[in-house]
Amino acid sequence: METSKNRMIRIPPPPEIVVEKCNGCGLCVKYCPALVLKIRDKIVAIEQRERCVACGHCGAVCPTEAISHPEARVESHLTVGPGPAVESEALLKLLRERRSVRFYRPEPVPREVLEKIIEAGRCAPTGSNSQNVHYLVFTDPREIVKLREITVSGMEKAFGLMGNPIVAFYAGFILGRKTVKFLQDYIPAAKSVIESTKSGVDRAFWNAPAVILAHAPSWDSSSAFNCSAALNFCALMAHSLGVGVCFNGFLENSAKYDPKLKKFLGLPKDHRCYGAMTLGYQQVKFRRLVGRRQPIVEWR
Ligand SMILES: Cc1cc2nc3c(=O)[nH]c(=O)nc-3n(C[C@H](O)[C@H](O)[C@H](O)COP(=O)(O)O)c2cc1C
Repeated sequence: METSKNRMIRIPPPPEIVVEKCNGCGLCVKYCPALVLKIRDKIVAIEQRERCVACGHCGAVCPTEAISHPEARVESHLTVGPGPAVESEALLKLLRERRSVRFYRPEPVPREVLEKIIEAGRCAPTGSNSQNVHYLVFTDPREIVKLREITVSGMEKAFGLMGNPIVAFYAGFILGRKTVKFLQDYIPAAKSVIESTKSGVDRAFWNAPAVILAHAPSWDSSSAFNCSAALNFCALMAHSLGVGVCFNGFLENSAKYDPKLKKFLGLPKDHRCYGAMTLGYQQVKFRRLVGRRQPIVEWR
């Protein structure tokens, strides 16, 4: 039998209602995405509490502060203005200004700044509002060196194996032929990164003073999206704080597949790394924005 204890998806506490404040307008009922609420005797009541995802939309639309969710408290002092906080032109400029920053100054990123960056990740959407993104933050230079060494040696092994036609043939059954071909095409670039890094020019982590990994339960089908959405929010906040970020596919993939790295990271057994990035203060300021290819869009 399914109980709240053995469910994989947790049931949050129900919204809290201040009956005296409710004017029965029904806005919370209408805008609750999970059909949790109902108007009963002209007052809001909880109908199906187990469906609640604690998104707090009920409290966000209530004109009288009669309802609030304990995990998404209405912050009375934070009202939403008539229009978005940032205009679209300014936002687009910010989005275009964000670039991958790979050349860092040696000074560390203070912990308070990293906390602000992670705070932005906290605002990102998650499937069913699970808020299941975990962050692993490296700032100790010795730990970062260890992380880089394990990542690079894992990459060396993995790309070495992909270069072996017999291994590649069998890997095709697990990963798919196209993925194996993709990885094989990547071998020369990966080898160059590995060789430079081993010879002291760090093209794996770019001598970054900080590294963040995002991980989440692998059984949750939204985890990959949740982590990348969160890290993207972090990257934008980092940019606005003057901190440069570069996503790191080498680290993300090694953390997914390399048992030695997984052990070093110590992620929970049922978790997977779904994103990683290096961070630091940029050495050189980008002076200009650049273009992108046209988007690939099909309109129906
Ligand atoms: C999933 C992902 C993995 C990436 N991995 C790396 C990486 O391992 N090393 C690196 O230098 N850049 C990495 N990048 C950065 C991309 O190369 C970069 O986003 C792209 O060239 C566009 O440049 P821009 O971010 O400056 O606009 C990665 C980006 C993404 C989204």
